[in-house]
Amino acid sequence: MLSQHEYGAEKSRNFEAMRAGTAPADRRAGPQIEIRPSPSLRLGDKAPDFIQDSTQGPIHLYEWMAESWAVLFSHPSDFTPVCTTELGMVARLKPEFDKRNVKAIGLSVDPLSYHDMWARDIAETQGVELNFPLLADADRKVAVSYDMIHPNSHATETVRSVFIIDPNKTVRLIHTYPASTGRNFDEVLRVIDSLQLTDDLQVATPVNWKLGDDVVILTSVRNQEADKLFPQGYRELKPYLRITPQPNK
Ligand code: BEZ
Repeated sequence: MLSQHEYGAEKSRNFEAMRAGTAPADRRAGPQIEIRPSPSLRLGDKAPDFIQDSTQGPIHLYEWMAESWAVLFSHPSDFTPVCTTELGMVARLKPEFDKRNVKAIGLSVDPLSYHDMWARDIAETQGVELNFPLLADADRKVAVSYDMIHPNSHATETVRSVFIIDPNKTVRLIHTYPASTGRNFDEVLRVIDSLQLTDDLQVATPVNWKLGDDVVILTSVRNQEADKLFPQGYRELKPYLRITPQPNK
């Protein structure tokens, strides 16, 4: 096993090679597994269930979620700088996830022993303990079933995927980011706010909407019905574009 320092250095070299378009296969990853192309996961599909090791013990996704929403997000690998900041941010945002009945779960295709060492670095550098599970997906079981490995981007490492899964275990959002770009978890929370609002009410959320802003009335709602549903009134800019203050759920 490489020391943490050697491993971090190898990751940096891999990153540089990746930027140069000459990314090597992952020499540290143990036995190379054949990554079989999986049919892409799409919005509205059932989230693949799994049992996998994590920093909080084995996780059976559906049981662990129970009646909650989940945000499942992947990292290219352990001891990488951008991921370290992302994991710190998600840990800091735990009260916001809790408020929305959402459980966060990270994934990196490295073994638990690395995750445990990395968790100490995250606490040290980000000032917050890892307060949610990080899957140790060394056998890539979850990564493959969620189509998180894009072989033309990197042979074995996961891209930065985000999946929002609702309590019915349906996939509601898929984000795919390049390895070199850290994600914006305020955006993830914003989408959760939108989904939780629009699941219950006959509205959709317009561009750059955030909680408390005006919303638009679904085109399937006739004006007569809208008058009853939206007692605060609405502005009709076009028959298909009616704006109303955000109703309470
Ligand atoms: C990072 O998390 O810092 C990272 C990982 C892989 C490639 C580039 C950056």
